[in-house]
Amino acid sequence: MSVVKKFRITKIKNSKPLISLKKISLSFKKNHLILDNISIDISKGQVIGLLGPNGAGKSSLMNLITGVIKPNYGNIVINNEDITQYPIYVRTKKFKIASVPQIGGFFSDLSTEDNLNAVGEILIKDIKKRKLKIEELISKFELDAVRKVEAKFLSGGMKRRLVISMSLLGEPEILLMDEPLAALDPQTIQMLQTIIIKLQSEYNLTIIITDHQARDLLVVCDRALILSNSKIVAEGTPNQLMQDDNAAKYYFGDNFKFK
Ligand SMILES: Nc1ncnc2c1ncn2[C@@H]1O[C@H](COP(=O)(O)OP(=O)(O)OP(=O)(O)O)[C@@H](O)[C@H]1O
Ligand SMILES: [Mg+2]
Repeated sequence: MSVVKKFRITKIKNSKPLISLKKISLSFKKNHLILDNISIDISKGQVIGLLGPNGAGKSSLMNLITGVIKPNYGNIVINNEDITQYPIYVRTKKFKIASVPQIGGFFSDLSTEDNLNAVGEILIKDIKKRKLKIEELISKFELDAVRKVEAKFLSGGMKRRLVISMSLLGEPEILLMDEPLAALDPQTIQMLQTIIIKLQSEYNLTIIITDHQARDLLVVCDRALILSNSKIVAEGTPNQLMQDDNAAKYYFGDNFKFK
């Protein structure tokens, strides 16, 4: 049984977007555009899926939002504030942005518990609150059995659980998740889907999420975009995307079924 989202935010009337990417272009090499004049508006409390073939620019788009890279053209606006030139730490702190990177995101030589402690010490000043939060996450992500194990010795899925739990330490308002489902077993995928839906419904978290496990991803998304050949080639609710010829052509193929 898959987790089924009970509601979807398809339209948020009169609300200004929380995050706006305005006419963003990005290239790392001359004459090779990764993103070409891309504009995206994301409302507060939405879960947005980013889909697209390998190399389409999904991780780059997330890196643009966190500030790891800067666009060649265009602007990034959060809460009506142009943040294009803000460094990573200002964005993270001011707008409570957290991310689950596609690779890594943990200290290899530290144990599970000490990874959480290391980040927790920066984000949660009150020692009691910090300990409580860490224990809550260890329990939620079923990391108790590996709390003393150095992260480099964890299985692939356990590493992902650790990184996801670390991303929630600071109770973010914007969460960017780059392939969080990769390497997770089916039950852990369900657990994470439930957590994502809960984060949205209880804390109104805005989540941008990418994954190639498209079916499992779409279950939690209100809206999704497909990036291909530097452009957004399709956009809509998961059900709309299933009817979209471009979505099939550029990403899903002909035989993909959502439910
Ligand atoms: N820092 C960088 N320097 C040079 N090229 C880069 C850099 N980061 C990404 N690229 C290139 O930009 C393109 C888009 O990469 P990106 O990682 O954003 O794709 P993706 O959609 O996340 O792919 P995947 O599904 O494989 O994770 C690729 O061609 C990649 O090689
Ligand atoms: Mg990527």
